[in-house]
Parts: sequence; structure tokens; C-alpha cells
Amino acid sequence: MRILVTGGTGYIGSHTTVSLMQQGYDVTIVDNLSNSDKNVLDGIEQIVGKRPDFCQVDCLNEQALNQVFDTYKDIEAVIHFAASKAVGESVEKPLLYYRNNILSLINLLEAMHRHSVKHIVFSSSCTVYGQPDKDHLPVDETAPIQKALSPYGNTKQINEEIICDTAHSDASLNAIILRYFNPIGAHQSALIGELPNGVPNNLLPFVTQTAAGLRDKLRVFGNDYNTPDGSCIRDYIYVVDLAKAHVCAVERMLQGKTKEQVEVFNLGTGRGLSVLEILNTFMRVTGVTIPYEIAPRREGDIEKVWANPKKANEVLGWKADTPVEEVLLSAWNWEKHIRNLNN
Ligand code: UD1
Repeated sequence: MRILVTGGTGYIGSHTTVSLMQQGYDVTIVDNLSNSDKNVLDGIEQIVGKRPDFCQVDCLNEQALNQVFDTYKDIEAVIHFAASKAVGESVEKPLLYYRNNILSLINLLEAMHRHSVKHIVFSSSCTVYGQPDKDHLPVDETAPIQKALSPYGNTKQINEEIICDTAHSDASLNAIILRYFNPIGAHQSALIGELPNGVPNNLLPFVTQTAAGLRDKLRVFGNDYNTPDGSCIRDYIYVVDLAKAHVCAVERMLQGKTKEQVEVFNLGTGRGLSVLEILNTFMRVTGVTIPYEIAPRREGDIEKVWANPKKANEVLGWKADTPVEEVLLSAWNWEKHIRNLNN
């Protein structure tokens, strides 16, 4: 059985490719390498013992995308990760984000239709919930969708709607939408991990780069939130646990177990941790001191959000249960690996 993974050399895509191949699936990766490196394929091959098929194709290129389906006639399902994902950049270049993220999905759904591929897993985000009110914390899938705070967030909402409308018009299409909370960490082998471009926006890469001496200090964005220690709370989920959820989702579809044409799952641990808790736990488990200062709040940040993952636990038979200490160590081991640090 072959799965097409768009964005498969990216952070979550590469970990998912490993999980799929370890379960015996053949994988064809489509990636334009705009935010990832081809040598990620070497890392995947070293872990799995086999190289995934790779097509350097931009999902905006309809013809090239269709050619991939023509070449690999045994594609049974698609997992669609390929997208631009920097929130700040999306505010500066909204049209780039709308073009990239929305046309890619449209091209993909059309190519799937043309080639009679019926199953798609879509990579969405808890950003669709905005700041849930206190009655909706932890957040389950019935929490209301709120107006997106950025063009990036809006592309996730629009893409979810495109999938629902397409499924409505085509009874044979089957989709699973996965709303991720905050993916962190790297594969235990330290052969694949997150490779941010330039100065990281996300917390964990900034922490590990500060630990490695690439950044002077971490800025904790706000300590005056309505949380126990004043810093924001998120549900940090291990990327390897997250990857496994995609395998469960694909299997559910291929085995014809889905109950609705479009199913939605929140993927998180169910536990919220503050920025300061992450920072202190990182320092404790790695023994590395991170210089930091309290800085003003970051515009657009949400105070607190964490998942109710009960539906994914029960229906997908999946659970994110790797202890955060282990996850933080994996992130540090990866940073050391890419910086050639030995201790
Ligand atoms: C961000 C995006 C979200 C996207 C997700 C992808 C914003 C506002 N939201 O989520 O749409 O889906 O990334 O992973 O950008 N922090 C610091 N110092 C730093 C970096 C972060 O204190 O240098 C804090 C933030 O204020 C936040 C927490 O760490 O409280 C997590 O931040 P981040 O990793 O950027 O994730 P989100 O903001 O949750």
C-alpha cells in the first residue's frame, strides 16, 4: 500500500514518513524543498533501512502533481502537510499564504479525483479554536471555531471548509482532519528533527538554539497572563506520538472504519504546560542553563489552550504518552546533532 505524503521532508512529514514505513507502507514524498532539505531523506533511510520515493514537486504545479499520481498508480491515500506555516510572515505576505496553502489543496483534491484516490488526511491546527472560553478548556472537537488571528490560521480554516464542501459534493471522498496542538521534539535517533529557517518563532527551537549558544537569551513573552505562573500555557505534543496518529488515521480510512465522511480529531496530550515550566524542565533534564528574560507579550498570542484528546484516544486508539522530559531531551539531542556538539 502506497501513501503520498506532501511536505514529507518537513518536520512533521518526515516523522510521519518514518512511522508509515515502519508499519510497512510504501511512501512517495512530494515536497518543493522550500522549507526543508533533501538530506532529510538520508535520515529517514538510516532510521527505516529503506529510502522513500521522492518527487521534488510543488503542489502549485498541477501538471507535475498529476504526473506523480500517473507514476505511482498504487497510491491509496494522501497525507497533506505541504504548506507555509510562519504566522508572522503570513501577516506580511497574506496573498503568498492564500495562494500556497489554498491552491495546493485544490490541486491535490482535483488530482486525487482524477486518479480515483479516495482518502486524505489533512494537517490542521488548534489555531482554529482561537482562545477558547473557560467552558471549552480543555478543548474538544465541538468547541466553536473562532475568527482566525492570522492569514496562516485562516488558510487552515478555509482548507477545512474546502475539504468538507468537496466531500459533500463527492460521496466517495473520505477525509480525516487532524488538529495539532504544539508539536515538539525529534526522533530518538536524532537523525531527523525540526530545522527552522533563520530565527525560530516557535518556543522549543529557540530554547535549544539558546542552549547551543546560537542565541543570547530566550525572551519569555509575558508573565502577566491569568495563569498560575503568569506565562502562557500550551499542550506540547511529541512529534513522534503525533506521527503515529497519522498512521492510525490512514488505517482507519483504508479499513473502512470511518463513521463520517469527514472526521475531525484534536491531537494533544491533554496536559497544559507553561512557558516557564517548559524552560525549567528543559534546564533540569539537560543540565544546561538557559539565559532568559521576561519580555512583553507577543501580539496575537493566546493565553492558554490545551486539548481534550478523548476522541482521538477512543476512536483512533491512539495516545500521546511520551513523558515531556524525554521529549525535551530528544529536542536537545537533535540540536546537538545538527551543531556537532558532543556534550
Ligand atoms: C504558533 C502559532 C500557531 C501555529 C503554531 C505552529 C502564533 C501566535 N501561533 O503557536 O498559529 O499553529 O505556532 O507550531 O505564532 N514563546 C516565548 N518565547 C519565544 C517563543 C515562544 O515565550 O521565543 C512562547 C509563546 O508566547 C507561547 C509559547 O511560547 O506562549 C509557544 O509559542 P510557539 O511555539 O510560537 O507556539 P504557539 O504560539 O502556540
